[in-house]
Order: sequence, then structure tokens, then C-alpha cells
Amino acid sequence: MKRWALTLVAILAAVQVLLACGPSSGEESGQKPQSEAPTEEVTVAPTEAPVPEIEGTVDGADATDAQLVAVGEVLYQQHCASCHGAELEGQTNWKQRDENGFLPAPPHDETGHTWHHPDEQLFEITKIGTEAFVGMGYRSNMIGFEDQLSDSEIWAVLAFIKSEWSPRIQRAQPK
Ligand code: HEC
Repeated sequence: MKRWALTLVAILAAVQVLLACGPSSGEESGQKPQSEAPTEEVTVAPTEAPVPEIEGTVDGADATDAQLVAVGEVLYQQHCASCHGAELEGQTNWKQRDENGFLPAPPHDETGHTWHHPDEQLFEITKIGTEAFVGMGYRSNMIGFEDQLSDSEIWAVLAFIKSEWSPRIQRAQPK
């Protein structure tokens, strides 16, 4: 008797789960869809984590500022990781132009040459993109982020990237 009751409870639970996950009930029962209301798409990817606030305005990529680095890490994963890699590893064969003459995204870790640039240049590249930064009709897939990130947020991303470098590479970066 008890077993039977447990099974029933389990079945009810399963039905509830199915109902909750299934398509909107109207369609199932052959009725006309209730309204034109668009189905809400909720994507909960880790990259959609809320971005912590930056306090005040930031004007530099201080890799020792733990709070700034933490914000930068979230922003990096949201805006940069798709090309530059979650581990800053870049795309494979990043030194090889593709058939259209575009360079792949280079790593931002020590194996790349991000650290060969002073902070100000990294800021400009990130803000306006490589095409505008290089000029002379240079074509690149590195877009500018000025519409998506505030100046402070760009500095935060750069602070995060720099915080991943060893002290030796941090010292070697031109000022
Ligand atoms: C759509 C892919 C893509 C995304 C997203 C992207 N990048 Fe890039 N990035 C590139 C490519 C490709 C290059 C190489 C451009 C070239 O030299 O033509 C590049 C180059 C760079 C460089 C120059 C590195 C060097 O060694 O000279 C910096 C700095 C940079 N990206 C920062 C960022 C930051 C910060 C973000 C996120 C806010 C970001 N990128 C997001 C594709 C991307």
C-alpha cells in the first residue's frame, strides 16, 4: 500500500514536471493558441551573470584592484571570451590570416602580444576597434566596444587581463 502511494506521488511529480516544461498548454489540447503573446525566451547562460557595479569612474587598468578585476572578469567573459578564449588563449593559428585576409583573435595571455602594448593603446583598440586604430583601410574582426562598454568598464576588462599575467610580464609591459 505504501509503495503504491509512493509510486503515485512520483508519477504526479513527473506529470507536473512535464507540464511545466512542455509547450504552452493551448497548443497541446488542440485549442487555438491563446494569444499572440510571444513566448518568452529565457536563456540562463553563465555569461549572462549580472555585472557587478564599478564604484565611481575608473581611469586606468589597475591589476591590483581586486574589485575592478572582478568586474572585468565578468565583462571579459561576456564580451571577449567568445573570440579571445575563456582562458585568454586566443584562437588557433592566430598568426595565420584566413582566406579573406583577416587575422584570428590573438591570445591575451603571455603567449600573445597584448602585453607588448601600453595600457593606453589597449584601451584605444578595445574602444574604437582595430580598423580605426590602425587606419589606412586595415580590415579586422576586432570591433570597437564603445557602444557596449563604458570607459570604466573597458579599463576593468584590461585590469582583469593584466591580472592574469605574471609579475615579470606585468613589469615588461611598456608603460
Ligand atoms: C568577434 C571577435 C572578437 C571579440 C568579441 C573581441 N575581439 Fe579583440 N580581437 C579580435 C581579433 C580578430 C583581433 C586581431 C585583430 C587584428 O590584428 O586584425 C583582436 C585584437 C585585440 C587586441 C589587440 C591585441 C594585440 O596583441 O595587438 C586587443 C587589445 C583586443 N582584441 C581586446 C579585446 C577585448 C578587451 C575584447 C572584449 C571587450 C575583445 N577584444 C573582443 C577579435 C575579437
